Order: sequence, then C-alpha cells, then structure tokens
Amino acid sequence: MADKFFLHYRNPDLHRMPEKLIFEMSRPCRRAVPMPALDVPQKNLSDIIPSRHLRRQPARLPEVGELETIRHFVRVSTMNHHIDKGFYPLGSCTMKYNPLVNETIARLEGFANAHPLQPEETQQGALHLMHELSRMLCEIVGMEAATLQPAAGAQGELTGLMMIRAYHESKGNPRKYVLIPDSAHGTNPASVVIAGYETVQIPSNAEGRVDKAVLKEKLNDEVAALMITNPNTLGLFETEILEISRLVHEAGAFMYMDGANLNALLGLVRPGDLGFDLMHINLHKTFSTPHGGGGPGSGPVAVGSRLVEYLPVPRVVKKGEKYILDDDYPKSVGKVHSFLGNFGMMVRACAYILMHGDRGLKRISENAIINANYLLSRLAPHFRLPYPGPAMHEFVLSGEKLRSHGLRTTDLAKRLLDYGVHAPTIYFPLIVREAIMIEPTETESRETLEAFADAMIQVLKEAMETPELVKNAPHTTPVGRLDEAKAVKELNINYFSIN
Ligand SMILES: Cc1ncc(COP(=O)(O)O)c(C=O)c1O
Repeated sequence: MADKFFLHYRNPDLHRMPEKLIFEMSRPCRRAVPMPALDVPQKNLSDIIPSRHLRRQPARLPEVGELETIRHFVRVSTMNHHIDKGFYPLGSCTMKYNPLVNETIARLEGFANAHPLQPEETQQGALHLMHELSRMLCEIVGMEAATLQPAAGAQGELTGLMMIRAYHESKGNPRKYVLIPDSAHGTNPASVVIAGYETVQIPSNAEGRVDKAVLKEKLNDEVAALMITNPNTLGLFETEILEISRLVHEAGAFMYMDGANLNALLGLVRPGDLGFDLMHINLHKTFSTPHGGGGPGSGPVAVGSRLVEYLPVPRVVKKGEKYILDDDYPKSVGKVHSFLGNFGMMVRACAYILMHGDRGLKRISENAIINANYLLSRLAPHFRLPYPGPAMHEFVLSGEKLRSHGLRTTDLAKRLLDYGVHAPTIYFPLIVREAIMIEPTETESRETLEAFADAMIQVLKEAMETPELVKNAPHTTPVGRLDEAKAVKELNINYFSIN
C-alpha cells in the first residue's frame, strides 16, 4: 500500500540525475531577458555611486536563457522534500498545509508593498491588522497583550526571558536560575543562557512528565521562572500543571510556556488559564505560515498583566479611531527586531485565524490529536512506546528494535525517503533512545496516515530481511546517503571561492 500510495510523489526523472549549478550552465552572452533601450540620459556609475563602493571586477553572473533557467529552478525546487510535495511528519515542527488563500492575501498590493518607514497615517491598514492579530492571539491563549516582533520561537523565548529579568530587576533581584524539564527543546536552555540565567534541569518522571518532587526541591527565591512546553516534547499533556503553577508562583517565579506545541490546544485549553504568565507562539507552526528553509518565521510573545509594561516597543496602540506606534513605555525591554517584525507572516496568520473562526480553530486541534492517536494505534504494536499515551498532537516512539539488525533510527529515516515521505524528527527528545517523533498534523487524510504507517512497518520488515537495503538508503533520491558529519565540518557553499 505505502509503495503504491506514495509512488506519485516520486519524480522518476530526478532519480539520481545530476543537476548542474546554474553557473556551470552559463554560456557567454546568453540572456534570459533583453534589457530595453535606455530612455534616460546615460551616466557613468562613478558619477552616481562613490568609487569605493564600486566593484573592481564585473559580477560573475550566470549567463543562461529563460527556458533553461526556468527548467533548472523547477528541477531544483522539487529535489528537496516539502509540504506541497509529500507527507512531512516532522515532530515538534507542525508541518501542516499552508493554505494558498493566505498567499493570495499576503500578496495584496497594500500588504506586499507596504514600507515600514511610511508615515503612520498611510499604514493604518497594516497597523490595524497587527492590532487585531495580537488581540486574537491573546484571546486564543488567555493573555493580556502581545508583541509580534520576534522572528522565531527561539527569539520569542529570549524576548520573554528578557521581560522576566526586567521584572525581577525592578523588584531588586534579577534572580539566577531558570528551571527546564529534561525533555525541553534545545533552544530553551540556549535562550536562558543568552538572557544571563543558569539552567537547572528537572528530570521527567516515569510517565514522561515533570517530576514534581524534584521541582519542589529546586524551587527557591533565586529561581526566575519555570520554562516548560505543554504538551511537552513527548506529546504528553502535563496533567499536574495547575499544581506546578501554584508551586512556581509561590516561589515568586514566572511560568513561561514554550508554545511551539499550541496546535494541540486551540479552542480546548488556554495556557493563561493554566497559570502561565507568558508564552511564545510559533505562527510558522500552528498558524500555517510557511516554515522551513530558515524562515522568515514569526514568534509573537503573549503576556499576562504583570508583564505588559515590559513588552518590546514600539507597540501598536489604538487611540480613538487611529492606530499609532507608541514608544512611551519606560520599562520596556526595547526593540527586538528591525521595524515591527516579519509582517508577511502576520498577514498569513491573521487570514488563517479569521478563515477558521473559533469553531474551526477548535476542530484543528481536535483533528491534530485524533490523527496523532490514530497513527499511534497503528504503530505502537510494532515499535517501543517509551511513555504511554494518550498522545496529544504528536508522539514519540523508540527505534531501538533496529539495533538488533545493525541499524539505527537514522537508517529508517533515510529509507522513508524512498517511500516519498519526509522522516519524522529523530533523536529528539534526548531522553528517548533512538527517538522517532511523529507529528502528522490535522491536514492529512486517513489514506496518507495509513500509507505512512504501512511504510514504517515495511521498513521494519526490510530491516529484518534485507538490512543492507535500509543501511544504504535512500536509493531513489537525487543524491544518496550523505556524510552528514563531513557536510557540517567542511561546509562549502561558496562557488566563487572554489573557482
Ligand atoms: C518545542 C520547541 N520549542 C522551541 C522551538 C524553536 O522555534 P523556532 O524554530 O521558531 O526558533 C521549536 C522548534 O522546532 C520547538 O519545537
């Protein structure tokens, strides 16, 4: 089933077909577009641009015809896996379909051509959108106010921690530690350190949730915050979160929620009601803005009443019928992004939220949870499930079984590419040996889930019967198994430096 189902995702033309660099396709004087004749007086460049800024050598641009250029980029664009091409169950990344209507709206002239330096009176539509988006996000997560400036979840974390620090400083002691569960995403401790705090790790208990006894031990008046993902990175809801919030607040610390997994909670639970004081939201996950390839993303931070005055400036504020950019917040942590953030992502997220409305958002999370549990029920009999479900929007299996055939989870991940599927997240969270973290999202059909489960089970069978086939996979992709360590250590992406 898997083989047949995913067959149409594969592009047999690309099978091990080398694609030249566009520079290698270059032939002297070949052009894609002839330039029109000058209709202004000709001037020397050095009359307009200071000579110190002028190139000494002409730029080495590829000289390629239009058709060859189009073919080259179409071929290259389909070499990598992407959500519009095939299933992408990358855990913790919420690789859901990005509706095309979002793109149409983001391309409306007034949005696409808006310039951040325009006078405020001419930016009213954009400011209105940002004001509305902040309001809607706050309503969804149960917070008071939000900043849309951060460009990613990780930057949202840092922004949140800067606010926490500013708050504690205003009370006379910035405090020293931030507590983080051992299942946390790597960006959490990194942000903590950049914000000038030390991390203290809280182990997970046998159910994969925060060990409350250890938490109690570690809490004291030098703890600035508990930073926690809910559902956590094992895809499990922290069932004792109300009690955890009470303990953390009793110690005078903040409850920070890493909201990367918000796709499980829309319309079902509001983090603010669970005791969280602030959180970041990954628009590029839950709210369907394009994700991958390094962005641009958007990681708004929403806060409860105690932190509102620390939000970054400028803030978009409604005064009468007008929207203005207000810098007059003396306790603010300042600016965290040039201008106002990645506006295009905000337009897409706003369109997505309005298109779905309250009931639609709730159905998104319900279906994300149903899809994950359906898939879990198909796969659990074949793989080890280290922490029992029920799962929320994702779940984590262990691929330890592969080891007895001389294989590892990474081999399964590579072999899945031959079935036209992007691999799940592997080796994360770190507390699961040979972790396989699967997040199907709500936008996948039952047939896709079935075919993926079949592919996973089939690879397991191959591992037992023909381990070499799995060990040397992938076999049908434009390039075979790469030496990933070499690629990291000897990165060479600069064509000019080697020529
Ligand atoms: C749980 C969790 N937290 C934080 C992040 C960081 O988000 P971003 O990649 O937008 O910086 C991620 C990203 O995958 C995540 O999964």
